[in-house]
Amino acid sequence: MRQFKHFTGFAVSVLLGTAALNSTGCAEPLNAQDTVVSTAARANTAVPEIRTENGKHVFLVDGRPYWMLCAQTNNSSNYAAALPDVWKSVEMLGANTLQIPISWEQIEPVEGTFDFSFVDTLLAQARERNVRVIPLWFGAFKNTSPSYAPTWVKTDSERFPRMVRPDQDNHYALSPHSEALFDADKRAFIALMSHIRDTDPDHTVIMMQVENEVGVYGLVRDHSDMANAIFKQSVPAELTETLNLPSGDWATVFEGDADEYFTAYAFANYVGGLAEAGKAVLDLPMYTNAALRHPTQDQKPGQYATGGPTYNVLDIWKAAAPSLDMLTPDIYLDDAPAYIATLNHYARDDNPLFVSETGTRPVFAQYFFETFGRGGIGFAPFGLDYTGYGNYPLGVKDVTDEVLAPFAQNYALIGDASGEWARLAFENEIWRAAQQDDYRERNLDLGQWRGRVRFDEWQFGYREWMGDAAQQQGKNPAETPNSGLLVARIDSDTFLVTGQNARIEFFAHEDRQSGRNAMFLKVEEVRFQDDEWVFQRMWNGDQTDYGLNFTDRNQTLRVTLGSYASRNDSRSKATSY
Ligand code: DGJ
Repeated sequence: MRQFKHFTGFAVSVLLGTAALNSTGCAEPLNAQDTVVSTAARANTAVPEIRTENGKHVFLVDGRPYWMLCAQTNNSSNYAAALPDVWKSVEMLGANTLQIPISWEQIEPVEGTFDFSFVDTLLAQARERNVRVIPLWFGAFKNTSPSYAPTWVKTDSERFPRMVRPDQDNHYALSPHSEALFDADKRAFIALMSHIRDTDPDHTVIMMQVENEVGVYGLVRDHSDMANAIFKQSVPAELTETLNLPSGDWATVFEGDADEYFTAYAFANYVGGLAEAGKAVLDLPMYTNAALRHPTQDQKPGQYATGGPTYNVLDIWKAAAPSLDMLTPDIYLDDAPAYIATLNHYARDDNPLFVSETGTRPVFAQYFFETFGRGGIGFAPFGLDYTGYGNYPLGVKDVTDEVLAPFAQNYALIGDASGEWARLAFENEIWRAAQQDDYRERNLDLGQWRGRVRFDEWQFGYREWMGDAAQQQGKNPAETPNSGLLVARIDSDTFLVTGQNARIEFFAHEDRQSGRNAMFLKVEEVRFQDDEWVFQRMWNGDQTDYGLNFTDRNQTLRVTLGSYASRNDSRSKATSY
């Protein structure tokens, strides 16, 4: 099996001063000791990087915190002819980042002869639109298959062997154990990275996806003579040492899981090796995406993309592929518990959360809130272009403005303030609530305060006032699937809040402010313009008496809370009196 040395770290970043909001919405400096990341303008040459501190992650683009509000194209939109239909949806969506394939067959149709004309066209058009790009490297593995490999690879099974089944027949997927395949794939990836390094000094390309949904369906490991020989060897020390396991061969160390873990290690080694080689050329953040193993159903190896970065082998991938900054979930599961379980699997201290693909049906939009509100750095609905293709039933039958609308509404909530939200999430704290599919109220522990979020209220009063009649004529949360909100702490009593179709009420925290009643000192509607929050108007009276009610409007509130002593009712919600 191939050997490789691991990449050893991120580029050192330069810290500049940061900014905070003052009471009129202008930026003012924080103390030096509060300074963590920069929001100040800087030359456009800093290499994008992901930083992690205390289990929290921030993605820095141009040296500034950045949330990736992505649009991912369809699979065959990586040609100049398709770009007008791509830009149309990027614009409609208000995405700041485009994920788009760059395929091996496209750049190296003849071995050793490279064609980067599409890359040049793409980046020129992206620059004109001020959109950042994540190329998706469709190399030897795309949804596990070699469909995007050049013909000279696909047709030469002797040089580029396929995985072999237990009955010794060839399987469809190429073998990740093949040194020849790795070397050829790596050469092409290095050529791509070199071209980007030489032609993209301002980093329109901010990140790379390496391969796409690797693994293998219908097989657990390669049974070729080559793979069998490796399987009998000792498990590499990097794995046993990191996982704190005794040494021994694969079957001895991993017993019943040996076949799957062996394959996971091989793919991690392969993809991590590409990332390492690519980073040696240009040190951009790199990730690979996962076709999921279902988080709650009993799926057996072979029934899912086995050996890919599924939740059960993340530790193996982390140990074997340290050059990959992230292992990312592609989430098309539309039941809330499965979606949330997946987010929880991939949001780890050692793995920033990036939903690298998700469905475009209306139910998926609300997970924007769940992703960013648990410290995520990016969210990417898939198949968003107007080329006339729809990946129903994963997504929609036809991509239209109406389909994009809920996703666009969520992106608009953040818009140019993405850096501020990302900074607050990293330096301070962020919370979220989405209605999921149980519509239950949610309680947020906001330090001195408690937030109660409901999804079935109007803007005025309480539904329960109307008794049963409310069921007949009331708001039906199921009709507004895009319901959720984000809350970020500015300081212990001041919060930034935005959302869609949701109400939040604030209470003095029962334990931490016992005997106090909450009140609003100020509820300011603000807008982010020219790098600062600009005051629009104060909310009061009906607009605050029944909590803060978000509809489908684009509204952001800066909420300042206070409290007063109460003899017997410390649970009262905040009002303005
Ligand atoms: C997940 C893959 O990563 C995408 O490229 C695409 O094939 C979708 N599945 C299905 O539309």
